[in-house]
Amino acid sequence: MSTLSIRPDEPWLAPLAGYSDLPFRLLAKQFGCAVRCSEMVSVKGLAFKNSGTRRVIATCPEDDPMVLQLFGSEPQFFEPVMEKLVSMGFRNFDLNAGCPVRKVLKSGSGVKLMQDLDKLVGLASIMVRKAGEHPDGGRVGVKFRLGFDKGENVYLDLAKRLEDAGVDWLTLHPRYGKQMFAGRADWRKLALLKREASIPVIGSGDLFTAEDGVRCIEETSVDAVMFARGALYDPSVFARFIALRQGHPLPVRDGEFLAEIVREHIRLTRQYEGDGRSFRKIRSIIPRYAKGLRGIRSLRASLLQCEEWEELEKAASVIADLEPADNISGKSDIDVICQ
Ligand SMILES: Cc1cc2nc3c(=O)[nH]c(=O)nc-3n(C[C@H](O)[C@H](O)[C@H](O)COP(=O)(O)O)c2cc1C
Repeated sequence: MSTLSIRPDEPWLAPLAGYSDLPFRLLAKQFGCAVRCSEMVSVKGLAFKNSGTRRVIATCPEDDPMVLQLFGSEPQFFEPVMEKLVSMGFRNFDLNAGCPVRKVLKSGSGVKLMQDLDKLVGLASIMVRKAGEHPDGGRVGVKFRLGFDKGENVYLDLAKRLEDAGVDWLTLHPRYGKQMFAGRADWRKLALLKREASIPVIGSGDLFTAEDGVRCIEETSVDAVMFARGALYDPSVFARFIALRQGHPLPVRDGEFLAEIVREHIRLTRQYEGDGRSFRKIRSIIPRYAKGLRGIRSLRASLLQCEEWEELEKAASVIADLEPADNISGKSDIDVICQ
């Protein structure tokens, strides 16, 4: 089992509900992503063995090192669930204190926890204590925003308290919960947190390209960066980021290169999930990778006709021959389920 690295040249994949599943994490790893976070999973759902949770916690030896992200607000469920997860071999955990989606807030979880720091720190403490029972020593991070609403700047106080509670790293997405994704991530606050904190700080927020990642490290001195939407559009963002940091030439991003990414994502999805649900999901994701190429509309239409994995592979292979478009539409097709 490898240890987690939190270093500038070792980029992370962010937790992405609906997307950072096992096949996508393995794809990101192939491009040099050092540590990959799971989709957030409900602690209560795990306690009651809800059917959806099994897929979210699916992993395999090649997935190492991964971080399992939990969300919840009821301490009584954290203790037994952490015990079970550690006994299953999970070693690295993250607590979600940043998700602003209504369904999550209603249960007092996600960024709502930032209005009750005692509770938030209490949950993190349970995770630290239980992760410590892993034979190789577990590790725990907390991912949070600046506060729940504008002006509620609790992130520095919170960071101090989390350090005292034994948390191993902090991830900040420098927006307020109420902002959702509006406005810009305030990297100056990331820099401030980095200056104040004595444990590693990971930066998240508006890292759409490898260049953004490099700039974020330079402007804020965070210990590492975490790609989220940037990785959904281009899983090779990790390789590009590492190349830029090390002054190496960037991989060429032509049709053949994108077609190979798609082939690999389909292969991993088929191998590690392989059911109808994952088929429909990957079919809807493929056109995103071809963004910036001419002929996406007909690609999308031909993908929708596919009902078998082989047909899908064949239909997607045309990406290799698509030419770059003159203008790229900036419209996002990512459903933001969280944060
Ligand atoms: C589709 C989507 C799903 C997300 N799911 C989660 C999640 O499960 N847990 C979490 O902590 N953050 C989640 N986030 C937030 C990201 O991890 C990240 O902090 C945020 O997108 C800011 O980074 P970016 O601007 O570079 O995309 C999600 C974001 C998106 C777009």
